[in-house]
Amino acid sequence: MSILVTGGTGFIGSHTAVEMIEAGTKVLIVDNFSNSKPAVLDRIFRITGVKPEFVLCDLCDYDALEIVFANHPDIEGCIHFAGLKAVGESVQKPVEYYRNNLVSTMNLCQFLAKYGAKKLVFSSSATVYGKPASVPIREDFPLSCTNPYGETKLVIEYLLRDLVVADPEWSIVVLRYFNPIGAHKSGLMGEDPKGIPNNLLPYVSKVANGKLPYLHVFGNDYHTHDGTGVRDYIHVVDLARAHLDAIRYARERSGIDYINLGTGCGYSVLDIVHAYENATGKKVPYRIEARRPGDIDECYADPSKALRVLGWKAERNLEDMCRDSDHWQSLNPDGYPEKEEA
Ligand code: UFG
Repeated sequence: MSILVTGGTGFIGSHTAVEMIEAGTKVLIVDNFSNSKPAVLDRIFRITGVKPEFVLCDLCDYDALEIVFANHPDIEGCIHFAGLKAVGESVQKPVEYYRNNLVSTMNLCQFLAKYGAKKLVFSSSATVYGKPASVPIREDFPLSCTNPYGETKLVIEYLLRDLVVADPEWSIVVLRYFNPIGAHKSGLMGEDPKGIPNNLLPYVSKVANGKLPYLHVFGNDYHTHDGTGVRDYIHVVDLARAHLDAIRYARERSGIDYINLGTGCGYSVLDIVHAYENATGKKVPYRIEARRPGDIDECYADPSKALRVLGWKAERNLEDMCRDSDHWQSLNPDGYPEKEEA
């Protein structure tokens, strides 16, 4: 049996594929390389010694996706990472975001049902909690969104909830990620954003390694210990490991469940700057600037349900995250190469 991993050449998908292969699970990766590169597949091979089966496919292409399922009757279930994910871009291109993220997921659900593989682990996000009334955030907190990207995650969560009502054979685990950072300890895989990074850690890594002059700190007048925004940063390999537990959980039961994946610790932007400097010995110059529209003061998880239900908790600390991010950035200053390597 195999697990279909959509978006398996992306940042979280590729790290999850490695953990799954190393645990002896057969994976079938599907990606359209809209935000990733074929070289990731070579890196997975270099780390695991296994070249994962891969199909180039856009999940919005209904006919092409049917062929994937028809050719792979051993698909048992799916981890669905694929999706557009840039908050700012989603505000500019709402139709593209809704169309891509919703059509792909609807197609996928139709074929998972048709081919008798009704087990799904879905990549959701802490963004579905909107501006939380308090922290730490529990799974039963009210849901709301502030941008089209977040709305697509929320609408998909509702779609999956309704799917389970209509057909109780489904087993769905919705994982709500906090802020994944870090990289594989080998330095062979990491986050490879296109152009200027939107997210904090890739930006910090580029500043520390001389690719960008300084970090723009978006606001220092938040209600936090030093005024800068607080988030729950989680090592991508810890996050990846949780997917193995989520697949096991999906095999054991039916219905739908929602699980936060975070460490439960909140760190500010300046905490990150200092941790990065301490972990790497490199300087991260910064300037305080205006707030970024839509940002919130604090966002960190209550991760106790993940421990209770999945038996999972994060093991890597902030120093590990900064060191591994920096190792990846220093070995791959321009990200993955355009062409396959092996
Ligand atoms: N920040 C800066 N400078 C930068 C980038 C970010 O100061 O150059 C600050 C932000 O203002 C925020 C913190 O760093 O306080 C983290 O920002 P990120 O952009 O790294 O992450 P967000 O928490 O804003 O968003 C991330 C993902 C979303 C996801 C959300 C879930 O990008 O997709 O976490 O909580 F929805």
